Amino acid sequence: MANRHFLTLLDFTPSELEMLMNRAIELKAMQHRGEIYEPLKNKVLGMIFEKSSTRTRVSFEAGIAQLGGQAIFLSSRDTQLGRGEPIEDSAKVLSRMCDIIMIRTFGHDIVETFAENSRVPVINALTDDYHPCQLLADMQTYQEHRGSIQGKTVVWVGDGNNMCHSYINAARQWDFKLVVNCPEGFDPLPELLNDNKDRVRIVRDTKEAAKDAHLLVTDVWASMGQEEEQKAREKVFKDYQVSPAIMDLAHKDAIFMHCLPAHRGEEISHDMLDDPRAVVWDEAENRLHAQKALMEYLLASE
Ligand code: CP
Ligand code: NVA
Repeated sequence: MANRHFLTLLDFTPSELEMLMNRAIELKAMQHRGEIYEPLKNKVLGMIFEKSSTRTRVSFEAGIAQLGGQAIFLSSRDTQLGRGEPIEDSAKVLSRMCDIIMIRTFGHDIVETFAENSRVPVINALTDDYHPCQLLADMQTYQEHRGSIQGKTVVWVGDGNNMCHSYINAARQWDFKLVVNCPEGFDPLPELLNDNKDRVRIVRDTKEAAKDAHLLVTDVWASMGQEEEQKAREKVFKDYQVSPAIMDLAHKDAIFMHCLPAHRGEEISHDMLDDPRAVVWDEAENRLHAQKALMEYLLASE
């Protein structure tokens, strides 16, 4: 069988995603019980990072270790990738040595090119356009707190960025409605909006958008790689902030998520993460369990 990769949520079917989510919930219970489960003994995960990370690095590294395997952290600063070795050559070489590879990088075309040249499964650990691993964790977290997300309304507040794009794909795969609350000029990719117009709509006013939300989600105003735009974005996004008062406008059972890192006083109010409706610490923990389920599945289907 040809390699399976996980570059966007559309690489898996809705039933595969459902299965992965349930498996992540099972693996979480096993880990909390202290059960040792090492199906990936002797397997090596290559981890390429061209951008910073706390959660993604630690969850993948801890995850492969808990499954019995090992990880190699490869920063572009210290490898030949950072000195211009072609991505195709790097993929050919690394995939002869590692059993599975994850990449965090800039252009989405970089992970696509890497995957095309890899002998082993490749996981997108964030590009400028998508962050599918975070959505595995987010969907698991919603399921654990509120049950099925099918038919519910999710409201995305802020930039039409990589996380927002993955939420659009998730709306399709998990069958929910998505309201994107972004300022003009910061819309998600037009082709994604166009392909999903049956379930995704843009509402410019945050208070209006928040109505009926079962889940509110936001992210930083300036993503990695946009540091020089920070000041300009602070002006444009100043009204796009989630606070307990905004949560009060939503559905009575609404919960709040943020992929983190969070900037208090910008996309969230200073007190938002202390609100009982915020489930961000469970969400962060679930990166570990979701990615263990993902690695187990990708290596088992080889
Ligand atoms: N949410 C997330 O991907 O966090 P890191 O940037 O810390 O990996
Ligand atoms: N949109 C953010 C997500 C960080 C996990 C970024 O790309 O920096």
